[in-house]
This record gives sequence, structure tokens and C-alpha cells, in this order.
Amino acid sequence: MRWGGGVNAVWAREKPTLQTSMGEVLRRLGEIVADQKRNLVFATVTILVSSGLQMIPPAATRYVIDVLIPTANERLIIALAIGLIMLHLARYGLLYLSRYAVALAAQQLVYELAQRLFENVQRLSLRFYERTGTGDIISRATSDVGVIQQALTGGMVNSVVGLVNMVAYAVVMVVLDWKLALLVFGTLPMMALASYVSAEMLRERYMTVRQKMSSVNAVLAENITGVRVAKAFAQEGASTERFQMRNRENLDANMATASVQAVSTPVIQMISTLGMVLVFWFGAERTMNGTLSLGTLVAFASYIVAFYQPVADLIQINNTIQQALAAAERIFQFLDERPDVVEKPGAIDLVAPRGHVRYEHVWFSYEKDKPVLQDICIDAQPGQIIALVGHTGSGKTTTVNLLPRFYDPDAGRVTIDGYDIRDLTIKSLRENTAVVLQETFLFSGTIRDNIAYGRLDATEEEIIAAAKEAYAHDFIMRLPGGYNWQVGEGGAMLSRGQRQRIALARAILRDPRILILDEATSDVDTETEMYIQRALDRVMRGRTVFVIAHRLSTIRNADQILVLDHGRIIERGTHAELLARGGHYRELYEIQFAEQPAGRDGEVAAATRPRQGRSWSEGQPARTG
Ligand SMILES: Nc1ncnc2c1ncn2[C@@H]1O[C@H](COP(=O)(O)OP(=O)(O)OP(=O)(O)O)[C@@H](O)[C@H]1O
Ligand SMILES: [Mg+2]
Repeated sequence: MRWGGGVNAVWAREKPTLQTSMGEVLRRLGEIVADQKRNLVFATVTILVSSGLQMIPPAATRYVIDVLIPTANERLIIALAIGLIMLHLARYGLLYLSRYAVALAAQQLVYELAQRLFENVQRLSLRFYERTGTGDIISRATSDVGVIQQALTGGMVNSVVGLVNMVAYAVVMVVLDWKLALLVFGTLPMMALASYVSAEMLRERYMTVRQKMSSVNAVLAENITGVRVAKAFAQEGASTERFQMRNRENLDANMATASVQAVSTPVIQMISTLGMVLVFWFGAERTMNGTLSLGTLVAFASYIVAFYQPVADLIQINNTIQQALAAAERIFQFLDERPDVVEKPGAIDLVAPRGHVRYEHVWFSYEKDKPVLQDICIDAQPGQIIALVGHTGSGKTTTVNLLPRFYDPDAGRVTIDGYDIRDLTIKSLRENTAVVLQETFLFSGTIRDNIAYGRLDATEEEIIAAAKEAYAHDFIMRLPGGYNWQVGEGGAMLSRGQRQRIALARAILRDPRILILDEATSDVDTETEMYIQRALDRVMRGRTVFVIAHRLSTIRNADQILVLDHGRIIERGTHAELLARGGHYRELYEIQFAEQPAGRDGEVAAATRPRQGRSWSEGQPARTG
């Protein structure tokens, strides 16, 4: 395959085989459905009653044939007919109620599953999202949940009705003529075997179907997100091909289940036909020699048809149930995921911190034994600006990601005002830190919503004040609808510079003690950049700031500059100190800012910077550690 590993890696990790037993999956589904006990009990009772009523018509037929017709009792026949109509009406009423109750229980279960899934997935740490594709998550939350819904509303009602009916018909058949009944029951072990075998074959295959569906969604999600790239490189054809491949695999997986069904259904029907043949063979003979009434034989025949019907239905339902079990298992896999970053029991709240941040001999790796950060030590006094510089992939983003506990260090610790951040409640820690990410992300909704995301209870005045501080107010007012402008998914309706300023306003509104700025390598126009720069300068005032800096002005203002190289801090000091030292920093500085007039103030330097978009990270060849 021509394309890179992203999506493939997801598939490679998918578990192709079943992890848990069917009983375990059922037990867990049952636990969730337990809240719906009342509905289910009600449904079962109504089903039982309606099935009981269903036993009467064939018995009545027998009575008509054997007793009423021979004695020509017309009035009783009419009375019986009216009675039967009433009986059917009552039965349909009960069926309606039972189906409604089961559907309600089933829908509640589905609601509950989707809700739990979302809540748990939201709680999970970033590592989970790095491992798991968007398409896979969406697939489980929608498609897998949907399959369970179908199985429950259709399958569950029908299988309960079917099972109850089967038992009831069995009893009636025994009462009517136990010898014939035994003949019929003789076929049941064969049926049980056939359906067991097909169930086993199906469940495994349905698991594959669910996974293939996920793959289709994964390609879909990735290609929708990456549509700009696909268009820019005129690779729509390749995307389509990739989709087609997954889609084809999905089709094949579905056909694999269809072929099992295609065999199992006729086999089961054959077995039921065999039962029928046996009954007529022996029954007819006994009717002829007078040991069995014709009425009984006719009644029996209709009971057999009715008896085998739910059996055949159950086979069908079995397909649906197997599919649902596979889906349920996939949902449980996500429900069982636990966050890597967890809060300690008895964690304390970080209240009004001064903002003294320390990294003490911090080591970190994304993958085992491949340290990305090595022995990082930082002492950020309250109110200081700490600038991190270094070539791309040197570990700048990773370093700051440890502060809000997106990840936990492998060794060493990070403290705020002397508290190990792992002893703090995650909520209070994150409330006191705000992060402006390298890539700004806005949620679909209005500009107001997106700024207010920083603090949901903010007033309109506070929102506008934050926007003004971020130099966003003016451009917002120029948009149709102003603060009500819909930004589109991910903020697609705004320019990058605009998105950055909205993200800044969001951080300002939060008014955090500790601010983390992962500056995007600026590819915005010089004017916008100047605004962003001014906004940044304001935002940084009075806070402890970690800034991954690409702008000279920011770096110059920093109290400490840390130069990272392959996950180690190789130099530290102020701009002047580091320049004087003539080491790695000076080299970086000369590569990037050689063209810039020295001695001018930061803003002007940034604003007049040549447009080739060079930055600290781009100024060095990409190296990975
Ligand atoms: N989620 C991740 N999983 C595995 N490895 C990662 C992950 N994120 C980053 N890395 C690796 O860790 C190293 C440091 O990455 P990091 O994002 O911290 O670099 P950076 O200094 O911020 O670079 P840039 O200037 O390009 O933003 C890189 O080698 C990168 O490949
Ligand atoms: Mg980075």
C-alpha cells in the first residue's frame, strides 16, 4: 500500500479474536438493563398471558371439528367465533404493551451505553487517543450501539415471545398427545446442535464485521479531516481507492456471515420438515385405525407449525443477537479502558497558587525505553517567563504537556508551590493552568461560545473584555453577527490568525496563574502577527508563563531561556547571557535572526521580520530523538 501507517496501525492493534465469553457479555448487558427491571417484568408477564391466549384457537378448532360439527350446533359455533375474535383483540393489545415495554427498556439500555461510552472516553488520557483512531471511537459509539439497539428492540422481543411460545406449545402438544409430541421433540437436539454451531461461527465472523465497519469509518474520518491535503495533492483518487479497499473488506466480512446463515436456515427448516413428516406418518396411521381423532391430528398439525415457527425465528434472531454481542464486547472494551493519568485518593485542591513551578529531574517517554525527556530541571519563579527553544522534535511540547498532567513523568516530579502535581486534584490543577496549543482548535458554535469555553460562567462583558485584550474584538465586530458568528467545525470559518486570537481570549478569560503557550510557527501576515504579539505580551503579564517561542521578541523578554536538544536542556540563561556565551543558542539565533536589525524592540522586530516563515524549529533540520 502506498499510504502511511496511521490507519493501518489501528487495525493492527485491533483484537481479531473474541476476548470474553458470551455469558460474560450477557451478564454485563444484564447489569445495565437491571435498572429497567419493572419494564422487563411487565413485558414478560404480558407476553406470557398473550402466549397463553394463543394456545386456545387450535384447541377450539379441535372442539369444533370433533364435537360441534358432528352435532351441528350452529349457535355455539357462532358464539365460539365471536369469542375467538375478542380473544385475538385482547392478545394484540397485550402484544402492543409488551413490545412497548421491551422497546423502552432496550432504548434505555442503548442510551445508557452511549452515555457511559462517551463519558468514559472523555475521561481517558491522551495516550488512549493516540492509540485509537477517531473513526474507531465514533464507530463504537454509533454503529455498535445501533446494532445493539436493533437486536434488542427486534431480537429481544421476538426471542422472548418465541421462547415462551415454544414452551407453551410444547406443553399443549404433550397434553394433546404425548406420543406425537415426543416425535416432535426428537428433532430438537438436532436443531440445538445446528443452531449452536452456526452461533459459534457467526459470533467470530460478526466481530470481524464490526471491526471492518470501524476501518471503513476510520478511513472516512481521516479523509474528511484531511480533505484539504487530499485536494492540494490531487490525491482524491488515492483516498477513494483506500476507502474502496476497506469497503470491500467490509463487504467480504458481511458475506462471510451471510454464507453461514445461508446454510443454517435451510438446515433448520429441513429438520422441522422432518418433524412434520414423522407426525403425519404416525398420526395418519393412528387416525385410520381410530386411536387418534381427526380433530386432534389437525390441531396437532397447526401446533407443530406454530411450534417450529419460533424455532426458526430464534435462529434468525440468533444472528442478530450474535451481532449485538460482538458489538457489546467492543463497547465494553472501551468502557473498561482506564485513564493513565489518575487522581490520587485524597488529592488536595490547588487554591490560589503563587505559581512557583519546578521540574525536578524529570524523565519521560512515549514508548518504553525511548526517553523523549531526560533529566529536565526547571525552576520557574512566580511571574517568570520561561522560553523553551530548540529544534523540532527536541521535546518542547512534551515538556509543557507534563504540567497540566496530559502525561505523567516516568521519573522525577513536577511541583507547583511545592506540591507534587500528582497530589493535586486534576480539576484544580487544570483550572489554574491554561494552555494555548500549537494548533488552535475551536468547537463548532459561536465565537462567544468558544471564548466562554475558558470559563463557562463568564458574563458578556468579561467575554468582550477578554476579546479586546486578545486583539480579537475588532475583527469579531467586522464579522456578520459579531460574537454570534458561527465558526464552523474546528473553527474552519476563521483564518488561522483569528483562531489563535480567539484561543488567546479563551485563555485570558480563564485568568490562570500558570500559562502555557505553544506558539504556532507563525505563517500569518505581519500585521496579524503584531497583534498576536501584543496580545501575548499582555497575557503573559503577572503569570508564570511557559512559552515555546518562535518569535525573537518573546524570547528576549523571557527571564530564562532553556535550549532543548534531544530531550535535554543543553543551555540556559537570559538572551544576553546566552548570546555572550556563544554556544548552541547563538548558533540558532544567527541562523534565524541574522537578517533582523538588532537592538530594535521586539514587536517591531517581529512585525518587520521577513516572510519566509523561518522559526526556531524550522531553522534546524528535523531530527528525531
Ligand atoms: N504522542 C506521541 N507519541 C509518541 N511520540 C511522540 C508523541 N508526541 C511527540 N512524540 C515524539 O517526541 C519527540 C518530541 O516531540 P515534541 O512534540 O515534544 O517536540 P517539539 O520540540 O515540540 O517539536 P516542534 O517544534 O516541532 O513542535 C519527537 O521525537 C516526537 O516524535
Ligand atoms: Mg511542539
